Amino acid sequence: MEKKEILIKYDVFQSIEELSPEDKNLLIKAIGAAHNAYAPYSGFNVGAAILLEDGKIVTGNNQENAAYPSGLCAERVALFAASSQNPDAIMKTIAITAYSDDFDVDTPISPCGACRQVMSEYENKQKQAIRVILMGAKSKIHIVENISGLLPFMFHADELKQNHKN
Ligand code: THU
Repeated sequence: MEKKEILIKYDVFQSIEELSPEDKNLLIKAIGAAHNAYAPYSGFNVGAAILLEDGKIVTGNNQENAAYPSGLCAERVALFAASSQNPDAIMKTIAITAYSDDFDVDTPISPCGACRQVMSEYENKQKQAIRVILMGAKSKIHIVENISGLLPFMFHADELKQNHKN
Protein backbone atom coordinates (compact mmCIF):
# COMPACT_ATOMS: atom_id res chain seq x y z
CA MET A 1 0.00 0.00 0.00
CA GLU A 2 1.15 3.46 -0.82
CA LYS A 3 -0.29 6.75 0.33
CA LYS A 4 -0.32 9.56 -2.22
CA GLU A 5 -1.21 13.20 -2.00
CA ILE A 6 -2.55 15.73 -4.45
CA LEU A 7 -1.52 19.32 -3.91
CA ILE A 8 -3.70 22.12 -5.23
CA LYS A 9 -2.27 25.61 -5.53
CA TYR A 10 -4.30 28.77 -5.87
CA ASP A 11 -3.71 32.48 -5.52
CA VAL A 12 -5.71 34.61 -3.12
CA PHE A 13 -6.35 38.29 -3.79
CA GLN A 14 -7.99 40.61 -1.28
CA SER A 15 -9.87 42.68 -3.85
CA ILE A 16 -10.53 43.12 -7.55
CA GLU A 17 -8.14 46.07 -7.54
CA GLU A 18 -5.22 43.68 -7.04
CA LEU A 19 -5.91 41.82 -10.29
CA SER A 20 -4.22 42.41 -13.63
CA PRO A 21 -6.24 44.72 -15.93
CA GLU A 22 -7.20 41.70 -18.08
CA ASP A 23 -8.48 39.65 -15.13
CA LYS A 24 -10.23 42.65 -13.60
CA ASN A 25 -12.02 43.39 -16.87
CA LEU A 26 -13.15 39.76 -17.18
CA LEU A 27 -14.46 39.71 -13.63
CA ILE A 28 -16.37 42.94 -14.25
CA LYS A 29 -17.98 41.25 -17.27
CA ALA A 30 -18.95 38.30 -15.02
CA ILE A 31 -20.49 40.71 -12.49
CA GLY A 32 -22.48 42.30 -15.32
CA ALA A 33 -23.64 38.87 -16.47
CA ALA A 34 -24.77 37.96 -12.93
CA HIS A 35 -27.09 40.97 -13.01
CA ASN A 36 -28.87 39.44 -16.01
CA ALA A 37 -29.30 36.02 -14.37
CA TYR A 38 -32.74 34.44 -14.38
CA ALA A 39 -32.82 33.06 -10.85
CA PRO A 40 -36.32 33.65 -9.44
CA TYR A 41 -36.32 30.42 -7.41
CA SER A 42 -32.95 30.56 -5.62
CA GLY A 43 -32.33 34.30 -5.72
CA PHE A 44 -28.69 33.31 -6.24
CA ASN A 45 -27.45 35.22 -9.26
CA VAL A 46 -24.35 33.81 -10.91
CA GLY A 47 -22.36 35.27 -13.79
CA ALA A 48 -19.53 33.79 -15.80
CA ALA A 49 -17.29 35.39 -18.42
CA ILE A 50 -14.87 33.51 -20.64
CA LEU A 51 -11.87 35.15 -22.30
CA LEU A 52 -10.98 33.59 -25.64
CA GLU A 53 -7.49 33.72 -27.11
CA ASP A 54 -8.46 36.37 -29.66
CA GLY A 55 -9.64 38.67 -26.86
CA LYS A 56 -13.35 37.99 -27.35
CA ILE A 57 -15.38 37.59 -24.15
CA VAL A 58 -18.41 35.30 -23.94
CA THR A 59 -20.69 35.58 -20.92
CA GLY A 60 -23.42 33.49 -19.33
CA ASN A 61 -25.59 33.43 -16.24
CA ASN A 62 -27.76 30.89 -14.46
CA GLN A 63 -31.10 30.16 -16.07
CA GLU A 64 -33.62 28.60 -13.71
CA ASN A 65 -36.87 26.85 -14.45
CA ALA A 66 -40.05 25.98 -12.56
CA ALA A 67 -39.10 22.38 -13.31
CA TYR A 68 -35.89 22.84 -11.28
CA PRO A 69 -33.54 20.36 -13.01
CA SER A 70 -34.27 21.97 -16.37
CA GLY A 71 -32.28 25.04 -15.37
CA LEU A 72 -28.57 25.47 -16.01
CA CYS A 73 -25.62 27.00 -14.14
CA ALA A 74 -23.98 30.19 -15.36
CA GLU A 75 -20.70 28.40 -16.10
CA ARG A 76 -22.26 25.90 -18.48
CA VAL A 77 -24.40 28.55 -20.18
CA ALA A 78 -21.18 30.49 -20.88
CA LEU A 79 -19.07 27.45 -21.77
CA PHE A 80 -21.62 26.03 -24.19
CA ALA A 81 -22.20 29.44 -25.77
CA ALA A 82 -18.44 29.97 -26.18
CA SER A 83 -17.87 26.53 -27.67
CA SER A 84 -20.91 26.57 -29.93
CA GLN A 85 -20.12 30.00 -31.35
CA ASN A 86 -16.31 29.63 -31.43
CA PRO A 87 -15.66 25.89 -31.83
CA ASP A 88 -11.92 26.24 -32.49
CA ALA A 89 -11.11 29.04 -30.08
CA ILE A 90 -8.87 28.50 -27.07
CA MET A 91 -10.50 29.45 -23.76
CA LYS A 92 -7.89 31.22 -21.67
CA THR A 93 -9.73 32.20 -18.50
CA ILE A 94 -13.19 31.92 -16.97
CA ALA A 95 -14.28 34.36 -14.28
CA ILE A 96 -17.23 33.38 -12.08
CA THR A 97 -19.06 35.41 -9.47
CA ALA A 98 -22.40 35.47 -7.64
CA TYR A 99 -24.56 37.74 -5.53
CA SER A 100 -27.91 37.57 -3.80
CA ASP A 101 -30.27 40.32 -2.72
CA ASP A 102 -31.29 38.14 0.22
CA PHE A 103 -27.95 37.23 1.81
CA ASP A 104 -24.26 38.01 1.63
CA VAL A 105 -22.17 35.92 -0.72
CA ASP A 106 -18.98 36.52 1.21
CA THR A 107 -16.87 33.62 -0.02
CA PRO A 108 -15.63 32.95 -3.57
CA ILE A 109 -18.17 30.90 -5.49
CA SER A 110 -17.33 27.23 -5.87
CA PRO A 111 -18.47 25.76 -9.22
CA CYS A 112 -20.57 22.59 -9.01
CA GLY A 113 -19.19 19.22 -10.04
CA ALA A 114 -21.04 19.13 -13.36
CA CYS A 115 -19.59 22.52 -14.36
CA ARG A 116 -16.09 21.40 -13.37
CA GLN A 117 -16.56 18.32 -15.56
CA VAL A 118 -17.62 20.49 -18.51
CA MET A 119 -14.68 22.87 -17.98
CA SER A 120 -12.33 19.91 -17.87
CA GLU A 121 -13.70 18.62 -21.19
CA TYR A 122 -12.73 21.86 -22.94
CA GLU A 123 -9.37 22.04 -21.18
CA ASN A 124 -8.55 18.51 -22.36
CA LYS A 125 -9.85 19.28 -25.85
CA GLN A 126 -7.71 22.37 -26.30
CA LYS A 127 -4.69 20.89 -24.49
CA GLN A 128 -4.17 24.21 -22.81
CA ALA A 129 -5.01 25.21 -19.26
CA ILE A 130 -8.10 27.27 -18.53
CA ARG A 131 -7.54 29.63 -15.61
CA VAL A 132 -10.43 30.05 -13.20
CA ILE A 133 -11.17 33.26 -11.28
CA LEU A 134 -13.64 32.86 -8.43
CA MET A 135 -15.30 35.62 -6.42
CA GLY A 136 -18.38 36.10 -4.25
CA ALA A 137 -20.20 39.42 -3.99
CA LYS A 138 -17.94 40.85 -1.30
CA SER A 139 -15.16 38.35 -0.91
CA LYS A 140 -11.58 37.52 -1.56
CA ILE A 141 -10.73 36.27 -5.02
CA HIS A 142 -9.27 32.85 -5.72
CA ILE A 143 -7.42 32.08 -8.93
CA VAL A 144 -6.73 28.50 -9.94
CA GLU A 145 -4.37 27.97 -12.86
CA ASN A 146 -6.16 24.99 -14.40
CA ILE A 147 -9.29 22.87 -14.14
CA SER A 148 -7.32 19.81 -13.03
CA GLY A 149 -6.81 21.73 -9.79
CA LEU A 150 -10.57 21.85 -9.30
CA LEU A 151 -11.34 18.31 -10.37
CA PRO A 152 -8.67 15.77 -9.46
CA PHE A 153 -9.22 12.30 -10.94
CA MET A 154 -11.47 13.82 -13.60
CA PHE A 155 -13.09 11.54 -16.16
CA HIS A 156 -11.95 12.35 -19.68
CA ALA A 157 -12.18 11.11 -23.25
CA ASP A 158 -8.91 9.11 -23.14
CA GLU A 159 -10.57 6.65 -20.82
CA LEU A 160 -13.28 5.96 -23.39
CA LYS A 161 -10.71 5.27 -26.12
CA GLN A 162 -8.59 3.06 -23.86
CA ASN A 163 -11.50 0.75 -23.31
CA HIS A 164 -12.12 0.04 -27.01
CA LYS A 165 -11.34 -3.62 -27.75
CA ASN A 166 -10.80 -3.03 -31.49
N1 THU B 1 -25.31 27.97 -9.75
C1 THU B 1 -24.52 28.40 -10.78
O1 THU B 1 -24.99 29.00 -11.74
N2 THU B 1 -23.21 28.17 -10.69
C2 THU B 1 -22.59 27.59 -9.62
O2 THU B 1 -21.37 27.44 -9.63
C3 THU B 1 -23.38 27.14 -8.48
C4 THU B 1 -24.84 27.25 -8.62
C5 THU B 1 -26.73 28.28 -9.83
C6 THU B 1 -27.65 27.11 -10.07
C7 THU B 1 -28.94 27.65 -9.49
O3 THU B 1 -29.58 28.45 -10.46
C8 THU B 1 -28.49 28.54 -8.35
O4 THU B 1 -27.14 28.86 -8.62
C9 THU B 1 -28.60 27.89 -6.98
O5 THU B 1 -27.97 26.67 -6.96
